[in-house]
Amino acid sequence: MTDTLPFFPPDLFEPDRGALLDILYEVGTDPEQKFILGRRTAELEQALRETTGAKHVIACGSGTGGLNLSVAALGIGPGDEVIVPAFCCQPVASSVANEGGTPIFADIDPWRMVIDPDEVERLITPRTKAIMPAHLFSIMADMPRLMEIGRRHDIPVIEDAAVAQGAVLDGTQAGRFGELGVLSFFQVKAFGTAGEGGMVLTDDDDLATTVRMLRNHGQDGVNRFLHHRIGQNSRFDEIIAGFQLHRLPTLAERLERRAQIADYYTKRFEPLREHGVLAPPPGRNGRCYYVYSLLVDRREDLRSYLTGQGIGTHIYYPVPLPLQPAFAAWAPEGVTWPHSEQASRRNLAIPIWPHLTDAQVEYIADTICEFFE
Ligand SMILES: Cc1ncc(COP(=O)(O)O)c(C=O)c1O
Repeated sequence: MTDTLPFFPPDLFEPDRGALLDILYEVGTDPEQKFILGRRTAELEQALRETTGAKHVIACGSGTGGLNLSVAALGIGPGDEVIVPAFCCQPVASSVANEGGTPIFADIDPWRMVIDPDEVERLITPRTKAIMPAHLFSIMADMPRLMEIGRRHDIPVIEDAAVAQGAVLDGTQAGRFGELGVLSFFQVKAFGTAGEGGMVLTDDDDLATTVRMLRNHGQDGVNRFLHHRIGQNSRFDEIIAGFQLHRLPTLAERLERRAQIADYYTKRFEPLREHGVLAPPPGRNGRCYYVYSLLVDRREDLRSYLTGQGIGTHIYYPVPLPLQPAFAAWAPEGVTWPHSEQASRRNLAIPIWPHLTDAQVEYIADTICEFFE
């Protein structure tokens, strides 16, 4: 096998290239001349209402946009605290800070790399106004426990399901646990696209109305240039909506292929435990397959070896959020996040794209096993 397997494959959307070009032409020449929030966006929102069962699905500019809108819709502002994972994508914290709130960083489970519910419980104060767990890589956060904590303390949960569309935990879809759930369509996500996009899911009528207004400068969608609130520009692109409608019917197939690859990897890597390699837990309940991340003691050595063998890898989050310069103001002195720091040092993501052939997947697994022989 001499193929090069880049971590970000340039042919991810190859089968849909013709459709994308057709949609581009159709939207560009549509007499309606609506490039954002048009009928294709409304159709995609309806399609996701049907597949997720959410009462309201609101399309927005990105997953980050969805988190920003959710925090703003809950009225979070100065003096309010939101508990977020210390090891995650930065918008969980910036969405809070941008509204003037205080992100409170909770450490993670050392194996699953998602927020630790015990830490969340420990960090609750009278100022806590929301809990924001995120599903990460290939594992959903422990939503049943987090929702129970939220209910007991009367604190809403913003469920960052950016990476986990289509994942199911104990019969409930990712994005459907929290008072607000957020999905992302960023390129390599489960339902990634050739650009940006996100969705906010909620069953709450008032929150839905607010999110809908906030995404388009506080307008109500009827009266143009009447601004009820100070909102944002987090609108959905019609070309992307058309493309996602085209790709939705084949999403389940792609998710299943990712799951099969993950099952195979986990079986192959289990024996590497004695070499300081930890694969994600086996099984499909509460699993998503955005990224397949191993925890590896000799990460840099393995990474160089794989690069030499033509296999691209990626390190998600080499620095935990509270240790980033941007969030230094929210990292209390003397507090540490040992599991997050360990995950930053050890995690290594390997390719799991649905269009990988069986031979390519075997090559990746063989090469990793070979390194430890
Ligand atoms: C856990 C998580 N939350 C939120 C986001 C933000 O999504 P977007 O890139 O669509 O803004 C990401 C993106 O990588 C993510 O991984």
